Amino acid sequence: SNLPDLVVVGAGLFGLTVAQQAAENGHTVEIIDVRSHIGGNAYSYFDKETGAEIHQYGAHLFHTSNKRVWDYVNRFTEFTDYQHRVYATHEGEVYPMPINLGTINQFFHAHYTPAEAKALIEQQAGELAGTDPTNLNDKGIQLIGRPLYEAFIKNYTGKQWQTDPAELPADIIKRLPVRFNYDNHYFKDTWEGLPKDGYTAWMERMIADPKIHVTLSTDFFDESQPLNKKALVGRVPVVYTGPVDKYFDYKLGDLKWRTVDFKERRYDEDDHFGCPVMNFVDADVPYTRAIEFKNFNPERRERQNPDKTVVWEEYSRSAGRDDEPYYPINTADDKQLYQQYKALAAKEPQVVFGGRLGTYAYYDMHQVINSALNAYDKQVGPLLVK
Ligand code: FDA
Repeated sequence: SNLPDLVVVGAGLFGLTVAQQAAENGHTVEIIDVRSHIGGNAYSYFDKETGAEIHQYGAHLFHTSNKRVWDYVNRFTEFTDYQHRVYATHEGEVYPMPINLGTINQFFHAHYTPAEAKALIEQQAGELAGTDPTNLNDKGIQLIGRPLYEAFIKNYTGKQWQTDPAELPADIIKRLPVRFNYDNHYFKDTWEGLPKDGYTAWMERMIADPKIHVTLSTDFFDESQPLNKKALVGRVPVVYTGPVDKYFDYKLGDLKWRTVDFKERRYDEDDHFGCPVMNFVDADVPYTRAIEFKNFNPERRERQNPDKTVVWEEYSRSAGRDDEPYYPINTADDKQLYQQYKALAAKEPQVVFGGRLGTYAYYDMHQVINSALNAYDKQVGPLLVK
């Protein structure tokens, strides 16, 4: 037969990593994706007018403390020395994020030392001491005190969930980090950076192997094309990285997700915000944050247009079946439903479910690559007999 050794459904980082590992071990691989490009949600493209690299499915910053993952990704791309920093606009003033001593002193018009700031926050958080918060509003107040919570967290979170935090479960937030120094470097990982010539070039190099063939704009559930579920499952090992509930035709119900709508704005200026990410933490601005893509790559200034910049505003809402699923909602009901789908998935002959959609989980890129390397070692590799 002319079947490949392995079929991978989904050309995101999980699928690409598994495909790369299989090819490196001598196997032929067919990757299919319903989208017209590889890369899944990490895909990006260069904007002609500004020279900005636009991350089409939301801002993607690479960071990891996992040595195996860092060595692996460095086989396919170099990284810039970008370090992520975020700012927030609140009542006409710009503050550094995450909440740190700079944020606190600016907010209270003070010059607190770390110890003084810590004592103040503890005192303010004491408002709900000894209570067991049932909603996110009370939880936020108990974690960092009412003033900072209401300024920086309450409305931002309300916009993310399109729900008043008093109506949201407390366990959405486990902790709210507050830094009692002026460090506003966002990530704490050992390694961080952006792919030097872009995300898509990195991911193209992962599969630049004649043993790997890619078929785009092709839906695994479309039986009018040959690379479909019915034709392949049971006949060839399959790695499936699409939505797990969709694989089973939603027969137990829908797993719930949030999505993000992007609104593009173009400005006739070099630099609109002076930083790549500006959060808008007040209720009167309908979007949660805005991304100015040029500012992720200051090292490309020479190749960018000094007269134009492009910004994407992010509007968050719950997803329907036809929307891009971005963040799993993960209520207790969702978790239980996923466990039922997981049990069905375990019975599929020679199908390995992986990635964020296939396992109903939020993964960062380094986590999904790590999980794909492990899945290849433990589950996929053993299915591929030579
Ligand atoms: P991914 O979704 O990328 O790929 C799955 C692929 O399967 C898609 O290409 C899809 O089209 C395809 N597919 C689905 N159904 C199919 C079907 N029926 N037939 C064929 N193909 C099908 N991470 C990080 O490290 N730093 C960051 O800053 C961010 N930022 C970020 C922002 C936003 C808004 C989101 C949603 C996510 C991030 N991430 C992130 C996470 C990152 O996007 C994530 O780790 C990877 O995209 C996961 O890769 P997967 O391969 O699991 O899924």
